[in-house]
Amino acid sequence: MEGFLPMSRASFTLDFIALAMAAVIPVMLFSLYQVRQRRDYQLHKRLQILLGLVLGIAILVFELDMRLYGWRQYAEASPYYTTLVIPSLIFHLFFAIPTLFLWIYTITMALWQHIDTENGKYRFQHKFFGRLSAYAMIGTTLSGWLFFWLAFMA
Ligand code: HEM
Repeated sequence: MEGFLPMSRASFTLDFIALAMAAVIPVMLFSLYQVRQRRDYQLHKRLQILLGLVLGIAILVFELDMRLYGWRQYAEASPYYTTLVIPSLIFHLFFAIPTLFLWIYTITMALWQHIDTENGKYRFQHKFFGRLSAYAMIGTTLSGWLFFWLAFMA
C-alpha cells in the first residue's frame, strides 16, 4: 500500500511507524512528568504499559511487513542507497534492539515487584532502568528517523 507522508517513498506501514514514533516521545515525557513532579504512580504505570503494548503491536506489524514486502525497493532511488543507508540502519538497530529488551525488563520487573504500591528496594533500581529505557527509546526514535530520511526521503 502507498505511503501517505509527503516527500516519502516508503510504504504505508513504514510511514505509519515513523509517525507513531513521534507520538511515543511526548506521551513518555508526560508520563515521566507525572512520576517526578506529581507522584502519580498509577497514571505513570498505566501510560507506560499502554506505550509498551502499542510499541509491541507496532513491532509485530512492522516485522511482518518487512518479511513479506521488504523496504529496499523504496530506498533504491536514494542517493545514499549504496553509502549511508546500511550504516544508518545498523546505527538504528544498535539502539532499537537493546530498547526492546530494556522495555520488557523494566515493565515486567516494575509489575513483578509491585513498585507502585510497595516501597521496595527495586524502586531505586527502577529509576536507573527507567531512565536507561527512556534514553534508549529517544535514541531509537532519532536514529530511526535518520535512517528513514536517508533511505526514503533523500
Ligand atoms: C518501560 C517502561 C517504564 C519506564 C521507561 C519508566 C521510567 C521511569 C523513570 C525514569 C522513573 C524515575 C523518575 C525520576 O527521575 O525520579 C520512574 C519512576 C517510577 N516508576 Fe517507572 N517506568 C516504566 C514503567 C513503570 C511501571 C510499569 C510501573 C508500575 C508498576 C512504574 C512505576 C514507577 C514508580 C512507582 C516510580 C517512582 C519510584 C520512586 O520515585 O521511588 N514504572 N519510572
